[in-house]
Amino acid sequence: MAREYGDVRVRVFSSADHALRCAADRIVDLIAEPAAQARGATLGLPTGRTPIGMYRELVARHRAGISFAGVTTFNLDEYHPIARDAAGSFRHFMREHFHDHVDIPPRQIHIPDGSLPAERVAAHCREYEQAIRASGGIDLQVLGIGSNGHIGFNEPASPRDSRTRLVELHGQTRLDNAAAFGGPELVPRHAITMGIGTILEGRALLVLAFGAAKAAAMRAALLGPIDESVPASLLRTHRQIEFLLDPAAAAGLDTGGGAVSA
Ligand code: F6R
Repeated sequence: MAREYGDVRVRVFSSADHALRCAADRIVDLIAEPAAQARGATLGLPTGRTPIGMYRELVARHRAGISFAGVTTFNLDEYHPIARDAAGSFRHFMREHFHDHVDIPPRQIHIPDGSLPAERVAAHCREYEQAIRASGGIDLQVLGIGSNGHIGFNEPASPRDSRTRLVELHGQTRLDNAAAFGGPELVPRHAITMGIGTILEGRALLVLAFGAAKAAAMRAALLGPIDESVPASLLRTHRQIEFLLDPAAAAGLDTGGGAVSA
């Protein structure tokens, strides 16, 4: 079912798989639009457990004949410091789940470089913002949401006008991502992330959240005050935003009890 919260559209699906297929549809529809085809669509992309099924679906669509050759991608974030080919890096994640299986030319793939020495990160962040602008801006920004309400790696109290930068990760975030590193103490302490201001400049935003661990964050994001203490709540200031949820993530919302049937 779909529900409006102000200008925000929330769709609760019968399952995460159904929502992920819908997210893949949005991307495929976007790259098929004549305007996007003419200049090449630009996607902002997340990593994490949430979007894995969306990438699986996109790879299947590619194998069925859809080309991504005109698409440019910008990832939201990357740990710092981290080797480019480290198993826990988001660069590795993207290759494993998406980039190695589709036909996007490598020069059109952008991921913050977590292997740079700290003194070069600020210039790299400025270049990242510049590359987004040079691509014409992000047409569709796909986002997951942290259990503490973070978006990208913009942790609670991140400024709403923040840009791509080096940030310190919260303990909860390092705990949530411990499995990829073999323990929370092995998760890097910092990350490079697009800022909230950067994210909000995307022309359209699509937020995915599944499972009970996201229910409190979704409730705060959609029903609480719009405030930097819950970065995801700032998404409600965007005019073209849609949340795709499963019933568990929507459990704290008044959605009338229905769900989109698969
Ligand atoms: C990852 C990112 C993060 C994740 C969030 C949820 O690129 O930007 O904000 O979307 O931490 O992670 P999962 O999907 O693993 O629950």
